[in-house]
Amino acid sequence: MKIGVVILAAGLGKRMRSRLPKVLHPLAGRPLLAHVLASAAELDPACVVVVHGHGGDRVRAALCGHECLWAEQAEQRGTGHAVMQAMPAMAGMDRVLVLYGDVPLISSETLARLLETSRETPLGLLTAELADPAGYGRILRDADGRVTRIVEERDATQEERAIREINTGFLVADRARLEAWLALIGDDNAQGEYYLTDIVGLAAREGARIATARPGSLPEVAGVNDRVQLAELERIFQRRAADDLMRSGVTLADPTRFDLRGRLEADPDVSIDINVIIEGEVRLASGVRIGPNCLLKDCVIGPDTLVMANCVIEGAEVGANARIGPFARLRPEARLADDTHVGNFVEVKKSTLGRGSKVNHLTYLGDAEVGAGVNVGAGTITCNYDGANKFKTRIGDGAFIGSNTALVAPVSVGEGATIGAGSVVTRDAPAGQLTLTRARQTTISGWQRPKKTT
Ligand code: UD1
Ligand code: CA
Repeated sequence: MKIGVVILAAGLGKRMRSRLPKVLHPLAGRPLLAHVLASAAELDPACVVVVHGHGGDRVRAALCGHECLWAEQAEQRGTGHAVMQAMPAMAGMDRVLVLYGDVPLISSETLARLLETSRETPLGLLTAELADPAGYGRILRDADGRVTRIVEERDATQEERAIREINTGFLVADRARLEAWLALIGDDNAQGEYYLTDIVGLAAREGARIATARPGSLPEVAGVNDRVQLAELERIFQRRAADDLMRSGVTLADPTRFDLRGRLEADPDVSIDINVIIEGEVRLASGVRIGPNCLLKDCVIGPDTLVMANCVIEGAEVGANARIGPFARLRPEARLADDTHVGNFVEVKKSTLGRGSKVNHLTYLGDAEVGAGVNVGAGTITCNYDGANKFKTRIGDGAFIGSNTALVAPVSVGEGATIGAGSVVTRDAPAGQLTLTRARQTTISGWQRPKKTT
């Protein structure tokens, strides 16, 4: 059974009041359309076609990593017309499933259920019972409960508007039958559009059985029309992500102040304080504690490591039992071994820090290879850049770098070496010895401070 998926995304999205196409607005850090494509992909369909509107280039460019075909609907002439644009690409499919680029929380479980309930019928609809059905198409059924038609709100009578079972828009149809039905629909209605929903009446008149299924929850079928609805769905998504994490053994200080904008793989007994944002792919080992207001992006943090408040960690790898922050910044390719300490106002970029080494205050380490058991004093700077090229700094095991040292790369400090505070190190410093560059301190005896004359 070959299933083709059609995703409608040609709507203008005027109510977003944005230059960005609606389906590219992010939810949990990913475009709305990417969420729909991901749910579709889980069904393992034979083909996915996105129907985009005018200016679809941006949408195509933004989603270029996804496996799908594109069909243009130059003029928005209704949902039926939109599906027609995708039908050439559906040739060879057995069934067609229609999804929406602006309904991002639809789950593959719900879609699988819709496919399953309508396996023996040429048409299946996802419907829902709403306390307030205003704005939606209503499902009309006969005395035996069989679906006969969908009526759009604007075309509905007073009596029909009282019906609370609504059309979510999601449907699955036999491909050949769908093609025939689409050829028969017209635009003689309140909006002058080709309604996809008109195929339901046609199917019923042919005596076709129409199956219906329900979504797992209502947010799954909620669309985004404006930024208020976008924010509501964002909070629903985040609450679900937070609940899943807590059930898997992660402590969240406050699940309403946690934002997942990527993937988090966290072992049990990870604990996360408030206002933490996760982006990209993040792995936190057991016992990791993340303090408040941290941004973690594409990083791996080892067991029992403590990340204190206000850290930004991106593209870094941290070992076990380390202490980071508060106010530390780890940039791409920072690799910190076990038991390391990186303290406040320290920036580490493309550098390794060996086991047990400490960089506790006000330091920049860039393009540095720092051994184990090293102490880097406050205010140390690796001068890695001459305005044109970057150079490496190497610091051997057990070295001690005095405060306010400038290490002018390329340069190396030998094992067990000590650098006196305030030095500007331009040549290699030998192992085991004290190196310092500093004018000798003198005291001028009998010197008098100048006095004000008048
Ligand atoms: C549609 C359904 C209605 C259902 C509701 C659920 C029809 C005729 N009506 O109504 O029964 O209750 O959705 O939200 O289908 N689109 C295009 N091209 C077009 C028109 C629409 O791609 O020419 C896309 C839009 O981007 C949107 C989706 O189709 O994602 C739905 O379109 P919209 O105009 O919002 O349909 P409704 O009038 O809300
Ligand atoms: Ca709509």
